[in-house]
Amino acid sequence: MAAKTVLTGVQATGMPHLGNYIGAIQPALRNAETAGGSFLFIADYHALNSVHDAAKLTRDTYEVAACWLALGLDPARTVFYRQSDVPEIFELTTILMAVTPKGLMDRSHAYKAACDKNREDGRDADANVNMGLYTYPILMAADILAMRGTHIPVGHDQKQHIEFARDIAGYFNNTFKSVLTQPEGIVQEQSATVPGLDGRKMSKSYNNHIPLFAEPKARQKLIMKIITDSKLPEEKKDPEGNTIFKLYTYFADAAAVAEMRAAFERGGMGYGDAKKLLAAAVETALEEPTRKYNALMADTAQIDAILAEGARKARAVARKTLSEVRVAAGLKPLE
Ligand code: TRP
Repeated sequence: MAAKTVLTGVQATGMPHLGNYIGAIQPALRNAETAGGSFLFIADYHALNSVHDAAKLTRDTYEVAACWLALGLDPARTVFYRQSDVPEIFELTTILMAVTPKGLMDRSHAYKAACDKNREDGRDADANVNMGLYTYPILMAADILAMRGTHIPVGHDQKQHIEFARDIAGYFNNTFKSVLTQPEGIVQEQSATVPGLDGRKMSKSYNNHIPLFAEPKARQKLIMKIITDSKLPEEKKDPEGNTIFKLYTYFADAAAVAEMRAAFERGGMGYGDAKKLLAAAVETALEEPTRKYNALMADTAQIDAILAEGARKARAVARKTLSEVRVAAGLKPLE
């Protein structure tokens, strides 16, 4: 088998929070480091299906780029680019449309969920469904196939999209000639569930999240708001199911975590003190990334330069794939 090429697409949905960092960004950075080759791109064409606010799309894209760079993505090792800077992806999408049955799109979970929601709300099934949402899986297949991604780390919600990408590559290869590499999804086993301030899964929709790159004071203030039971400091406490302790396990080293666990179990560790320890550990972990993030956001030309270099590398790979695909289908090769 050819070398392992890890490819990840990230949606730009504004400032990530600690839960995104632990559950998605950290594992993706680890995957990228261990692969033979790796690609990470910002799926801005995908975002355009739902974000119809030009200033917001631009800002979200910079934020997500600055975030990954600040957290340690190395653009010398991972090809890092904006999807919309690689026109070959778009061209490949059009070619793949010609071999993708409409019925496949009709079976898409994301599309069906949008229709079900509309019906529930008493609207026409296709209300607010644009063609971008409908054909989303074809663009995603092109993202992967253009770069010959072999290993695609995804959450459970994206599993079907990877199966579609395999199917679509198969349709093309069977119709014309076997030129496309079928990718494999690496479905991340229940990625870490990071509790939010109220103990439920940390999520923007619950408004229980701690933003990654807030002012240190703002982060600390949120941490002090974590909801606990009303046990007194001297009482014994079970560290399991304790939001402060759980978050601490992600940010403190093993010795410090063991110490907090022991203090909770024997009694004598108050929630206020535990929160202070947690806040200190979070600051230690995020101080440097926050500084980098702010520096990048203050000079977006730096981000543009990094993404332009990534696009140059990505385009070289995509052009080769696209040229082979064009020839296989009877179109002219690229110059
Ligand atoms: N659909 C993915 C998500 O919502 C983002 C994405 C777009 C992607 N293209 C991709 C992921 C290609 C992996 C490979 O998270």
